[in-house]
Amino acid sequence: MDKDYWKDIYSKQSEGERPSLFAQYIATTFQLSGKRIIELGCGNGRDAIFFANANANVTAIDQCDNIIELLDGRFKKVNNLTFKCLDFTCLDDMMPFDFVYSRFTLHSISKGQEQKVVKWAHRNLNPYGKLCIEVRGQKNEIFQVGIPVEGEPDAFILNDHYRRFLNFESFCDELKTIGFRIDYAKEEKGFAPYNGTNETYIRIIASKQE
Ligand SMILES: C[S@@+](CC[C@H](N)C(=O)[O-])C[C@H]1O[C@@H](n2cnc3c(N)ncnc32)[C@H](O)[C@@H]1O
Repeated sequence: MDKDYWKDIYSKQSEGERPSLFAQYIATTFQLSGKRIIELGCGNGRDAIFFANANANVTAIDQCDNIIELLDGRFKKVNNLTFKCLDFTCLDDMMPFDFVYSRFTLHSISKGQEQKVVKWAHRNLNPYGKLCIEVRGQKNEIFQVGIPVEGEPDAFILNDHYRRFLNFESFCDELKTIGFRIDYAKEEKGFAPYNGTNETYIRIIASKQE
């Protein structure tokens, strides 16, 4: 979904920005050196590069071949950072990770795909590995703005861009049912101020329980 939207953005602007506040929060909360991290939907790679600079072993994937080719070329010689062009909703199982990191990506996919992704994350984490998610929820300021998507009650198209807004409580319940313990979960402002706006987002860190 929305692949052309993102490819178009990356064809015009591929330069990394500063790491997100979420990535900085993860790096100050956990010891990342030597840990295996996979980023689902890495975009211009700013957070993946930041984690690699903290000496984590990072695999970063995105569906957009243009940005992945560019990042792969730029970081080919960096041993602890790999970029791959893949769809994160249909990944094969891999060697287990210590962290599965997804920032602003779960609202790009349908409910069914999201359920598949969190189950994949649970299977592909080490015991007590962390699932780290930042995403738009139903307290987000543009929830229900735009054209409703038929058959998907929480999804809307705004400016030709699909977004599905997660229900905070039911998403936490879904994670617990799969076998995660919720370590941190909030839906509030302050997580991602951008260009003078300060919208409400969900931030969750959950640990895989054996
Ligand atoms: C809002 S951007 C976030 C980029 C990055 N995580 C950040 O916070 O800077 C969403 C990214 O997710 C990617 N994406 C969305 N759905 C995807 C999918 N099914 N598989 C792989 N990448 C996907 C898009 O191509 C886009 O680069």
